Amino acid sequence: MSEKTLILIKPDGVKRGLVGEILRRIEAKGYEIVELKMLQATDALLAAHYAEHVEKPFYPEMAEYMQSGAIVAAIIAGTRVVAGVRALAGATDPTTAAPGTIRGDFARAWDQGAIQNLIHSSDSAQSAEREIAIWFNR
Ligand code: PPS
Repeated sequence: MSEKTLILIKPDGVKRGLVGEILRRIEAKGYEIVELKMLQATDALLAAHYAEHVEKPFYPEMAEYMQSGAIVAAIIAGTRVVAGVRALAGATDPTTAAPGTIRGDFARAWDQGAIQNLIHSSDSAQSAEREIAIWFNR
């Protein structure tokens, strides 16, 4: 069975009409969308998903940002898909994310508030399994 990863298109991606573009890049790379849904993130979902970050100073701002609109959650499959989608997404900091990546092409820094970087993708196959269970009720 091929590897799976979890992506979240964050509220800035949905509001700016980038859902199609982000999914297009993932599909064009050759990965398969195996499940897809739009939802509003709850406090509980975010606290579970970002369990290792809930005590960090940036968490309240990040949670507010992640609840500022609908998000799109998807399970993506393919050989080495975790690394492949991380490469498509680019670096966390959108200012320095390489051009050609999703964050490098479409995101930037703003004076105030959370980092708005369009997309989350799992950082390992193990994280993907944990995150898929959270967002797809496994
Ligand atoms: S850390 O502290 O180095 O482990 O954090 P990092 O790996 O850079 O980021 C972890 C996730 O938190 C998001 N992040 C932020 N979001 C909004 N605002 C701020 N200031 C912020 N700092 C970090 C970062 O995008 C990572 O989430 P995902 O969903 O994986 O992108």
